[in-house]
Amino acid sequence: MSDLKSLLEARRSVRAFTDEPVDIVRLTALIGAAARAPSGGNVQPWHVYLLAGERMTEFRALMQTRIADGQADTPEYPVYPAKLGEPYRSRRFKVGEDMYARLGIPREDKAKRLDWFARNWQFFDAPAGLFLFVGREMGAAQWSDLGMFLQSLMLLLVEEGLASCPQEAWAMHHSAVARFCNAPEDQMLFCGLAIGYEDRAHPVNDLRTTRAPLDEWLTIL
Ligand SMILES: Cc1cc2nc3c(=O)[nH]c(=O)nc-3n(C[C@H](O)[C@H](O)[C@H](O)COP(=O)(O)O)c2cc1C
Repeated sequence: MSDLKSLLEARRSVRAFTDEPVDIVRLTALIGAAARAPSGGNVQPWHVYLLAGERMTEFRALMQTRIADGQADTPEYPVYPAKLGEPYRSRRFKVGEDMYARLGIPREDKAKRLDWFARNWQFFDAPAGLFLFVGREMGAAQWSDLGMFLQSLMLLLVEEGLASCPQEAWAMHHSAVARFCNAPEDQMLFCGLAIGYEDRAHPVNDLRTTRAPLDEWLTIL
């Protein structure tokens, strides 16, 4: 499978991975290739920190301690608008409900839902992961460039048989992430990306998200 339409259809957020390690050299090459993504003025505003192997083990342990201690940060940017109106609110609600249905966790079981959500901060046990930072001086236009980089990378990963999950959840632990990455103060964390081979036996990966019909958002003038 290598045609672009198939790759676009095959990419989805995968939230459970096998133990199979990811070849870091190969991964580095894909990250390099993703930088062919366009950016306004070719400023290429992305800063990427990649971790796997022992560093990943070390980071997971650090995060486990942090979560057990009840530590968390206030995100440095609004992950969603304070008032997410329709139709966006319902779309967000649906993907959450669909995911927890796959996991068999009902709405009332808040503790189990929170436990599952906390798996974000273990990179969903993926063998590799990265953090995407951007300069604090950058604005909405450059943040959109980050999205293009991210999607380019996720498609390249699919082409290599790898799976991924982008994660804004890391915004709730930006200080720990920045410290671990030794990121300079003038860089701000946007998101993480869990990377590995899909665990096809895990029910969470049965989730297939939908998209709004074209006529809800396309206007042909
Ligand atoms: C920038 C970005 C951040 C995201 N953050 C999270 C996250 O923190 N945790 C998570 O489980 N999924 C996260 N997602 C995945 C979205 O929920 C997912 O992309 C959306 O529901 C569409 O599903 P699909 O990726 O399977 O097509 C994120 C996606 C994007 C693009």
